[in-house]
Amino acid sequence: MAVILDGKELAKKKREELKEKILKLKEKSGIIPGLAIVRVGNNSASETYVHNKLKACQEVGINALEKHFLGMESEEEIISAIEQYNQDENIDGIIVQSPLPDNYNENYVASKVLGAKDADGFGIENLGYLLSNQEHVLAATPKGILNLLDAYQIPLEGKHVVIVGRSVIVGRPMAIMCLNRHATVTMCHSKTDNLAKYTKEADILISAVGKPYFIDDEMVKDGAVLIDVGMNRVDGKWFGDITPRAQEKASFYTPVPGGVGPMTVVTLLENVYELSLKRERKDR
Ligand code: GUN
Repeated sequence: MAVILDGKELAKKKREELKEKILKLKEKSGIIPGLAIVRVGNNSASETYVHNKLKACQEVGINALEKHFLGMESEEEIISAIEQYNQDENIDGIIVQSPLPDNYNENYVASKVLGAKDADGFGIENLGYLLSNQEHVLAATPKGILNLLDAYQIPLEGKHVVIVGRSVIVGRPMAIMCLNRHATVTMCHSKTDNLAKYTKEADILISAVGKPYFIDDEMVKDGAVLIDVGMNRVDGKWFGDITPRAQEKASFYTPVPGGVGPMTVVTLLENVYELSLKRERKDR
């Protein structure tokens, strides 16, 4: 019988723990962690994600604000807002919600966030630390996945982790984090020939493809751990990358929704809290 990795429940517990820590920080030092979210354009998924992040921040006691640009402003205007937040003592973390509309150079705009305020953890500086096995702020989705595996005492050491998807937000940092935890890692992507050959070998299969029901039962090994990062909306309903038939073959799997998504949000909040401790230590 496959066991569900209940990200929703674990995230709730972690939010409660975090709320306590934030209260204590405020009592001790008067510091309230602050997050600024920059959103550009009207991508509807981004609107939902940002809404969820703001709501979760409010619940744990993080001061969060959203700066929304319609998408007609110049890159300089957006960068100027980011630079203002870089200087703002009360802002500990900044995120630029991806994707930006095509008329902006997203990498350039996002690179203006100071490394010390990079709450997403996938800026150049933090990715560099990760690559050299000195982990500072870690990208929220992969770190949330590791926290979920840890909570269910699923070891990584010596295991074969196969990751499908090579994005900077999920696949790439996920691979390095697993490597740093002594897993053997295979990276697959849209150009991989004979994908099933690799996915069938996975002890832990992580799919971040973004195609509904892309991974079916004949692509997974009996007893594998299946991690589904896919959030695919079809006719108003959410579908993951992995089929229910494949989930039946697993030892553990994450549901969609209620698996990776809530873990990503709470891990982002934990990152903001960690960054606010830098303010307390006067270390930024
Ligand atoms: N777009 C999709 N996921 C994310 C995320 O975790 N952070 C940001 N900034 N943008 C995203």
